[in-house]
This record gives sequence, structure tokens and C-alpha cells, in this order.
Amino acid sequence: MEILPIEGRFKGKHFVTISQIRTVDEIERIFEVADEMKAIVEDKKANGDLAGYCVAEIFYQPSTRTFTSFLGAANWLGAMSIPVHGMSAYSSAVKGESLADTIRSLYQTTAADVIVLRHPDDDSSEVAAQNSEVPIVNAGSGKKEHPTQSVLDLYTIRQELGKMDDLHVAMVGDLKNGRTIKSLAKLLMVAGKNNRMTFVAPDELKAPEGFIEEVRGMGAEIEETDDIENVVADADVLYVTRVQKEWFDTEEDYEKVKGCYVVDEELMKKAKKKMAVMHPLPRVNEIVTGVDDDPRAAYFRQMRSGLYTRMALLKLILRG
Ligand code: NCD
Repeated sequence: MEILPIEGRFKGKHFVTISQIRTVDEIERIFEVADEMKAIVEDKKANGDLAGYCVAEIFYQPSTRTFTSFLGAANWLGAMSIPVHGMSAYSSAVKGESLADTIRSLYQTTAADVIVLRHPDDDSSEVAAQNSEVPIVNAGSGKKEHPTQSVLDLYTIRQELGKMDDLHVAMVGDLKNGRTIKSLAKLLMVAGKNNRMTFVAPDELKAPEGFIEEVRGMGAEIEETDDIENVVADADVLYVTRVQKEWFDTEEDYEKVKGCYVVDEELMKKAKKKMAVMHPLPRVNEIVTGVDDDPRAAYFRQMRSGLYTRMALLKLILRG
């Protein structure tokens, strides 16, 4: 099945790259449904909207939040769920099967109506999409994309700050290997006017040039610095990320940069009164637990946004 822009209609389409979303209306539509989903969960009124549908969650990389929120999403809406973790260790990938063949097989063996895929290859979702008869939802592909994460991130920003325009978003940490910031930066450019970004990273972890150029091409004003002190006082969102150990060649290289930024109580004293500290999680040591009770710490609420927005995305893709 071809990968098509959303163009106002999610039903029956893949969602493999954030670039498929091109208008604020499309974002608003997801959020409108996510708000309905929030009410369903909060009122404990699961309604079986997706009864009879089948969602397969196929993960080749570790995951806690993305995996369980997709399971939660399917279950809250009454869909069947076929969760498969540990694909890279236990599936026929070990025997040398191609991703294309695995995707074709999963469709046959499960009759899934949608396949949620996490995989270490940058182009995995595209490959899967081209070889799938049912929609593929990208739950994280390599270092490149994590589109559903950026939807939940933006939903959280809107919830915390009440707007999607005029935002100064500081992205902090491993901007080279991290995939969440890649999708979020692009979505911010579609979401509102006058959004600008500062990329905070040491030399070793700077965002790739090609990616920065691409986002600048969408009209983004992007500054780069290696000093978090330069941005903390002016940021509306401090989007902190983990140094992605799994992509480093040597332990030594990782050790050199692993503690590059630590958000602590002292740093928070310099931040605005109204702002949000976010993190896709897991955190290792980037945010000290002493910040957790700060009202600006949004990273726990951010996870719940994942449930609501993924419910919304599954519903829009399966039923419209
Ligand atoms: C992120 C990921 O897998 O890209 N986690 C997530 O989905 N919330 C971030 C990370 O692993 O650091």
C-alpha cells in the first residue's frame, strides 16, 4: 500500500512519517478525538468503538510507554490486540527473514487491521508500508522518526501551555541519535505560527545538518548552542532527551557525553514560571527526581497523553 499524505482523511492510511500531516486542521482533528478519548478513560466508559478490529503491536526494540499505550489504546476501545515484543531476538528475523516477508506473514497469521511497528532501521516503516495490505503505524524507526510520539508531545504542549503558536522550544541532549525530536521539530512547524527552536547539544550529539536544513526549509528559526544556561530563562518548553547509549560505538564514547545536561532544582529556578519540562522517557540521569514535584514537570502527564492520542489515531485510521 502506498504512503499518502493525510489530506484530511486518516482512514485506511499508513502513519509512518510526520510529514504526512501538513495542516493544523489535521492536528486539531486528532486532538478533538483525543479529548473524547480522555473523557472515555476518565469516566471509565469504554465503548467498544473498535470492537471486531485487530491491532498487532510488533516491536523489535525495547519499549515501555509506546508499547503499553498502544495496548491500552486498543483495549480501551475494545479491539483485539496481538502484542509481540522481542521480535529481534525471537522472530524469524534471527533466521534471516526480511522485514517485508515478516510483515506479509503477520498479516496472514493474525488478520490484523493495523500493524504498529517499532524497528531499529530508519526506513523500516516505509519498507513495511510498501509490503503491507493494512495500515502501518510507525512506533519509532531508527534514529529518524517517531511520529506518534510527536503527536502526544504536541498534545501535551497544548495542554500545559494552552497554545501551539509563539513557542520557544529548547530541545536538549542527544539530538544526533534521538528520533523523537526529529518528528517533533517538523510537527511544530505545521502546528503554529512563530514557533522557534533552540537545539542544545554538545558537538558529539548535534542534530544532523541535513535534518536542520530540512526543518529550516519549513520556515523554522533554529539556533544551536551547547550551553543549556543560554536558553533556560527563555524557553517555553524544555524538551529533554536521553543520550542514546545503544547507538554508540564504544562505552568510552558514551561515558564522555552521558551526563552532558542535568536538569535540577537549581536550573529550574532560572526557568519561566509558566513553562513545561518534557521528556519522552526513559530518563537516565537527565532530570533529577527532585524536579518531579515541580508543577512545570510535565513528563508524567505527557505519558498519559500517549494513551489518548494513540486511541485517537487508531480510531481515525480504522474508522475515520
Ligand atoms: C523514545 C524512543 O524510543 O525513541 N522513547 C519513547 O518512545 N518514549 C526515547 C528514548 O528511548 O530515549
